[in-house]
Amino acid sequence: MIRVEDSIDKLVRDDLALVITWGDGHKSRFDYVWLRDSCCCAECGDPLTATKRISIADIAPTTWARLAAAEGPNLKIEWEDGHTSVYPRAWLRARCNCPESRAARRHLPTLWDSSSSGNLGAIPYSEFSADDEGLLAALEQVRDRGFSLIRTTPARLGTLESIAAKIGFIRETNYGRVYDLVVKPDARLFANRGVLVPPHTDEAYRHHAQGLALFHCLQAAKGGGGVTILVDGFKVAEDLRRENPAAFELLTRVPQQFAQRYDSLDLRSAARLIACDLDGQIVGVRFNMLGSIAPDLPQELISQFYDALRQLAVLHRDTNNWLQILLEPGDLLIIDNERVLHGRTAFDPRAGRRHLRLCYIDRDGYHSTLRVLGRKLGRFGADLVLPSGAAN
Ligand SMILES: [Fe+2]
Ligand SMILES: [Zn+2]
Ligand SMILES: [Zn+2]
Repeated sequence: MIRVEDSIDKLVRDDLALVITWGDGHKSRFDYVWLRDSCCCAECGDPLTATKRISIADIAPTTWARLAAAEGPNLKIEWEDGHTSVYPRAWLRARCNCPESRAARRHLPTLWDSSSSGNLGAIPYSEFSADDEGLLAALEQVRDRGFSLIRTTPARLGTLESIAAKIGFIRETNYGRVYDLVVKPDARLFANRGVLVPPHTDEAYRHHAQGLALFHCLQAAKGGGGVTILVDGFKVAEDLRRENPAAFELLTRVPQQFAQRYDSLDLRSAARLIACDLDGQIVGVRFNMLGSIAPDLPQELISQFYDALRQLAVLHRDTNNWLQILLEPGDLLIIDNERVLHGRTAFDPRAGRRHLRLCYIDRDGYHSTLRVLGRKLGRFGADLVLPSGAAN
């Protein structure tokens, strides 16, 4: 059965494109070059594995369709050079490039602030680990809100790595595969002391920041404090866009510089704090005042840059944007590190040891698992366009 929106009312071939009026009245315009490049025949490639056998260099700039006609559930095109292409019409309709259709294919984040504290949507480990549904539910939370909290996991070493393996590959760094956040009296890193850690994204000093950060609580802080702070970086960036469009625009264009140096390590990046795609949608943020270094910028940009940076920093510091969660032993927090900032309130390490184990997973592996499970479990939107992160 052909759906009405995949049936064709009218086909018009103009000089550059094929214009289809669909059964429901919607109109799509497909450029010949796009259609020819997307040919699904065995000679041109295998769309199943996304393997292509033709190059744009093989397609003449003047390519045009000699004939276009509906054929069963497909659309058949005969090209001027004699090649024939057959496209499933549902496939074409799903790729309409009008603004409304493109917007509908796009994942829209659910923005939040401190008022979401009562609605953490924590998933019990028994549910999470029962089947693919549990895992997908957690990954969909990460996709929609930027974080997911799994409660009552086994509070022992090794749990983090086995859960991470279900999502993707752990990205090994100079810290190793996993990193233990424990309070040490002589700690050089902020995270390993009892002081307040202001909200930040991790590893902003890498050209490609980490995609997901997974925090597994093994021992909670005692005597109060040590509460995890989360900030929705997308929400805060949208606030800045609304309040001061010029500052927002500047931070999407002018990079900040970050570094981390110790022992035999010297990492540096120059990266934009807010990354937007071609359509202006935010696809990633990074923010870490503690890891930033003196910016190397044209003199005329310096004061503007600091003004914009200050406005963003003030929003990040505003506790109305803070979601506060007291992690308990066995809690596992999965964060999209290119969307959600994390921090921690101060606590007294003398009251007892606090131990969190941390690892990172690449963004592309997480997206892949989300798509594969979504398709397997018949989720609408398994093919949504997802934010690509803060890489510049
Ligand atoms: Fe951190
Ligand atoms: Zn072909
Ligand atoms: Zn459309």
